[in-house]
Amino acid sequence: SSVVARAYSSSANLGAGFDILSLAHKAYHDEVEAEIVNNEGRGVLIETSDGIPKETHRNSAGAAVLSMLEDLGLKVTVRLKVKKGVPFGLGLGSSGASASAAVSAVNELLGLGLRREDLVKYAMLGEGAVSGSPHPDNVAASLFGGVVAVVSTSPIRVAQIPVRVAFNLLLIIPRVKPMEGKTRKARELVPNRVNLSDAVQNARFISSLILGLESGNRELIRLGLNDEIVEKARTPMYPHYPEVKKVALESDAIGVCVSGAGPSVLVFYDKYTDIMGLKDRADNVCKKNGFACDFIETELAGGVQIE
Ligand code: HSE
Repeated sequence: SSVVARAYSSSANLGAGFDILSLAHKAYHDEVEAEIVNNEGRGVLIETSDGIPKETHRNSAGAAVLSMLEDLGLKVTVRLKVKKGVPFGLGLGSSGASASAAVSAVNELLGLGLRREDLVKYAMLGEGAVSGSPHPDNVAASLFGGVVAVVSTSPIRVAQIPVRVAFNLLLIIPRVKPMEGKTRKARELVPNRVNLSDAVQNARFISSLILGLESGNRELIRLGLNDEIVEKARTPMYPHYPEVKKVALESDAIGVCVSGAGPSVLVFYDKYTDIMGLKDRADNVCKKNGFACDFIETELAGGVQIE
């Protein structure tokens, strides 16, 4: 017997919420089928598509499940068939979706009865295998769905942010070759020390975004989707972003931010947004920067599903 779990793509950070805020979207999803191979030793065998590492400790799904089996002292070997739907290396939570689906499938397969916050703990260790540091934001969104805030990491606590406003999401995805070790490099660009004034400004942005989503105030959301620290430090990795943001806001988008570690850009929009004009102008900006962009219109997704 086997269990299949499906987890959606996600956009982490949402401006100033580096490693805190994230949302799941229906744009793409991964599916992981888990089955028991034997009960003799502890191991994880991976089958996946080309371009994704198959060694357990270098694969986000494999590393996540192995950490779970080790932590719980379980002697079992499982096979994970990872069906990738989320393109990798573009800031769309690809490794997080695989890790989230994998730990959920194994939780169900072995009847472990773990809570979703426990699954975040293991899935984020899978992220660590890929990016060098285990960040919880993408996996929290893929596991819980909607918009989430990771409000504590030890122990893991995830709060789901109530969204009382109608909006759609537009992903602007550069058609570029995924850079090897991109998230790792992007994390190296983030400064270890920041100015107090920048930290205060970022705390204002996060407050504004959360209150805007809860109250449905468009201006608070627009204001909240900004960042003085991480997006700025990483701008060399996505030079098209400042101008894409400018033209999107001129087309009356609700707000704009980098999706995760980029280079994709996430736009919140609604019926007041000139979406055709926005795409047209953003397309020109991408081309000026030497690449084409794909535009994916999507919406918030729910959490992980057992098929
Ligand atoms: N919060 C993480 C980062 C997300 O920005 O590095 C990576 O997908």
